[in-house]
Amino acid sequence: MLILGIETSCDETGVALYDTALPASAGLLAHALHSQIAMHAAYGGVVPELASRDHIQRLVPLIEKVLAESNRSLRSVDAIAVTEGPGLGGALMVGTSVAAGLGLALGKPMIGIHHLEGHLLSPLLAEPRPKFPFIALLVSGGHTQLMAVEAVGRYTLLGETVDDAAGEAFDKTASLLALPYPGGAALSELAKQGNAKKYLLPRPMLHSGNLEFSFSGLKTAVLMLTKKLTDTTKFLADDTRADIAASFQAAVVDVLAAKCLAALKQTDMKALVVSGGVGANQSLRSTLLREAERIGAQVFFPPLEFCTDNGAMIAFAAALRIEADPGLLLQVTRGFSVRPRWNLEMTNLAHHGGN
Ligand code: KG4
Ligand code: ZN
Repeated sequence: MLILGIETSCDETGVALYDTALPASAGLLAHALHSQIAMHAAYGGVVPELASRDHIQRLVPLIEKVLAESNRSLRSVDAIAVTEGPGLGGALMVGTSVAAGLGLALGKPMIGIHHLEGHLLSPLLAEPRPKFPFIALLVSGGHTQLMAVEAVGRYTLLGETVDDAAGEAFDKTASLLALPYPGGAALSELAKQGNAKKYLLPRPMLHSGNLEFSFSGLKTAVLMLTKKLTDTTKFLADDTRADIAASFQAAVVDVLAAKCLAALKQTDMKALVVSGGVGANQSLRSTLLREAERIGAQVFFPPLEFCTDNGAMIAFAAALRIEADPGLLLQVTRGFSVRPRWNLEMTNLAHHGGN
């Protein structure tokens, strides 16, 4: 079965073609991405209206590209998977309306996918493949959540941020350090040259006794620190910026790693899956690998290209959902909806007994 995946929830237009007849990563026949980062950088953040307009221009050519690269025709597509939410309303509407149009024209089902389900199942696209059950840490620009994943469509939220997402904290701190938007990757590059012990920044909610996170106080602490350290010329010295970046990153990584370990212990699970844009962070990766090894747990990361938003994870999530609930294929595409705010647990499938 051939699944066309479409992702337009934020600032990346992603399209992929996935063939369920082939095993895991081999099933990914082609995928293509257009990032709007350069367009939004001038504004220091995503401008929703510009995002929607750009998705409109990019989506159809990307679909054509993916079909051409995999040498398949539109007619051979059996289902269209699309991010239905959460995300920017207008941006989601571009993907869902195109998906519904294709579904109607081809007489094929359109399957709405939760963006975070795409992220949390994406590590299964690579070898070695984690086995259920596992803990998923979702760390992106919009989310910081720990989920217990029993099976496809069986998710329990264990804890999440009460304010800023980890990626948002990276981006806001990067902006304080005069790095271009979105600054997560640039900040972690800068941190490589810095001393992480130079400034002792708060580790918010480290000892809260639960699996909640908070990052807005950390961002404020960096703001106060930069104000204190900025000299009369209004510039921070380069080595100071690197030290702040490293100290900030260490604080975030400490908190994320401690909560992941607590989640593994609390649920007695032995596998941790990390996904979302911040999952690309090398310091987070090495810390989690080291800490998990200490307690005999394994950590799985999606390949770097699937850490950030992409169409492959949407097509793949749909493939796994169809496998768990074949009735999805019987859906008839009539119209479309978007869910800009959508709780992942609402997507849970009725229990079909094991998976
Ligand atoms: O998952 P994603 O592409 O989009 C959302 O759904 O939010 O995540 C983007 C976030 C941004 O905040 C970006 O700064 C952050 O991931 N990010 C990183 C790194 N690469 C991307 N944060 C820390 N270190 C990185 N290497
Ligand atoms: Zn995302």
